Amino acid sequence: MKAIRIHAFGGPDALSYEEVPTPTIRDNEVLVRNKAAGINPIDWKTCSGGGAASFIGKLPFIPGWEFAGVVELVGAAVDGFKVGDEVFGFIRFPEAAGCYAEHLAAPANQIAHKPAQMSFSEGAGLGLAGLTAWQALFDKGQLSAGQQVLVLAAAGGVGHLAVQLAKAAGAQVTGSASAANHEYLHSLGCDAVIDYQTQDVGQALQDIDLVIDGMGGEVGINALQCLKPGGRLVTLPSVTLDAVVRAAEAAGVQASGIRVEPNGAQLAELAKRYAEGNLKLTLAAEVPLAEARSAHKQSAGGHVRGKLILTV
Ligand SMILES: NC(=O)c1ccc[n+]([C@@H]2O[C@H](COP(=O)([O-])OP(=O)(O)OC[C@H]3O[C@@H](n4cnc5c(N)ncnc54)[C@H](OP(=O)(O)O)[C@@H]3O)[C@@H](O)[C@H]2O)c1
Repeated sequence: MKAIRIHAFGGPDALSYEEVPTPTIRDNEVLVRNKAAGINPIDWKTCSGGGAASFIGKLPFIPGWEFAGVVELVGAAVDGFKVGDEVFGFIRFPEAAGCYAEHLAAPANQIAHKPAQMSFSEGAGLGLAGLTAWQALFDKGQLSAGQQVLVLAAAGGVGHLAVQLAKAAGAQVTGSASAANHEYLHSLGCDAVIDYQTQDVGQALQDIDLVIDGMGGEVGINALQCLKPGGRLVTLPSVTLDAVVRAAEAAGVQASGIRVEPNGAQLAELAKRYAEGNLKLTLAAEVPLAEARSAHKQSAGGHVRGKLILTV
């Protein structure tokens, strides 16, 4: 089969489109004929030696943790999936999962059925960002109806789903983005938007119960000022986690990090909401697998709206 691999850590030019062996499956796994893979910042961070690089073992490494495709083979211990099923998933993270490939082996408890009306590209973009948004809002953030939520980087992969999930949970949602994305954020359900390029977010907003911090670093630290007493911030980028938590401690507010976890049941819930018309995926671009280098460059530019997808 064809796949994208790296043989040494590096920038986008380290990605190589090549022939590799088709994976085999264990009893609790399915073999998937892959149709699309989602791109996330963790992909290029890991390929350049940061991100999840310490978890992936020896090179070569096939990047990618999320996908959508068709089940081709089912392990002996798998219930609930059969050959021909259309599925999507976020798998094995932070260990290597091999989703930038024509076939992949997926643990059955980390995938879900893809609704018929959901495209493979949409399915491939839902797993990592959708579960991050879900786990940050509800598992870590303990969001409840009527609360004020601020989503930093609201137009990005995680942010655009966090806005919709928070709205659906009955929150009042403010999203930060550049002016070009403000109409888009309103279309997702934001009650208010803030332009981080012309306004100081930390000064402009108050009495926020929960910040979902898709930026980290100084942006996350500045947003701590928006929290009401007892409010909390969940910061997503791991590289600046310690600095954000230290700043929160100094300011007397709560901040914590997250490492998104595969979860088939939560994926099924996200799929249900999509099927009911209550959750939409924005696709920034669909790029052929062989052109993964250009997609990594685009993602690293930091201004993707919604999700970038590799089509297989
Ligand atoms: N810990 C975990 O488990 C976990 C899981 C998922 C993601 N993450 C991390 O979370 C971060 C966000 O991920 P993502 O996939 O959502 O990224 P993304 O899709 O690449 O985010 C792009 C968005 O960031 C916005 N942006 C850029 N600079 C901004 C600023 N200063 N203030 C507000 N928005 C800004 C852009 O909006 P404009 O174009 O309007 O500027 C763009 O829409 C990444 O660092 C990722 O690695 C961590």
